[in-house]
Amino acid sequence: MAMVHVVRYESPQAWAEHVAARFASFLADQPAARVALPTGATPEPVYAGIVEAVRAGVASFGRAHVFLLDEFGGVPPDAKGRCDVMLHRALLDHVDVRPGHYHKLDPEAPDVEAMCAAYDAALKQPLDLVMLGIGRNGHVGMNEPGTPPDSGTRRVELAPSTTQASVRYFGEGAALPTWGITLGLAQILAARTIWILATGEGKADIVRDVLLEPVSASRPASLLRGHPDCWFLLDAAAASKLPVGVLTRG
Ligand code: PGA
Repeated sequence: MAMVHVVRYESPQAWAEHVAARFASFLADQPAARVALPTGATPEPVYAGIVEAVRAGVASFGRAHVFLLDEFGGVPPDAKGRCDVMLHRALLDHVDVRPGHYHKLDPEAPDVEAMCAAYDAALKQPLDLVMLGIGRNGHVGMNEPGTPPDSGTRRVELAPSTTQASVRYFGEGAALPTWGITLGLAQILAARTIWILATGEGKADIVRDVLLEPVSASRPASLLRGHPDCWFLLDAAAASKLPVGVLTRG
């Protein structure tokens, strides 16, 4: 039976340092890795650590392929909350990913379905690592509650709470997205390794429910519990509602 690994780090700083170091050593072991990367608030301190590791020569994206996890539609391509813009700001502008090795999702594509099909075709060779945040409703990427595990890359309508939550990326007063494009659960579940990142008290309830309540499409992150190499990497606040028995100390 698959067993989820749940690792708890004492502080947000220790968490960010260790997750960044873990990524750097992953890349050192598998320099030609194909990785899907998330955006949002959670991974930002991790990306800062990865940028340092690349600057220090400890890791390199020179041979790696980076796939964007998801993207907001219906908002300008250069809006500060677009996932592509956030990933450039936090990581891509500061590391050595080769231009042809960065794969993004394009909501402005004239044929979005064909664009998604091409993304999935490129992922016939499974990802080596998918790094994910988790929404307070249990979404991963933009796979909202109710998403079946065999869903592919596609256009999705956002849950109203996801639209509301995106104000922290786009800013007060900006138009907020109601739809997006996301890597599907099928491609996430096909990856060799999955890391789910969560920090802060605000994620404690959903982390507990995803790990301890029955697996259900109503909390998409719980579907990842069946994956053979799935890691929940948590700071103490995000892990605060879990019984000690399920935790490994980071
Ligand atoms: P956050 O978003 O990292 O900004 O909290 C996570 C998510 O909604 O997937």
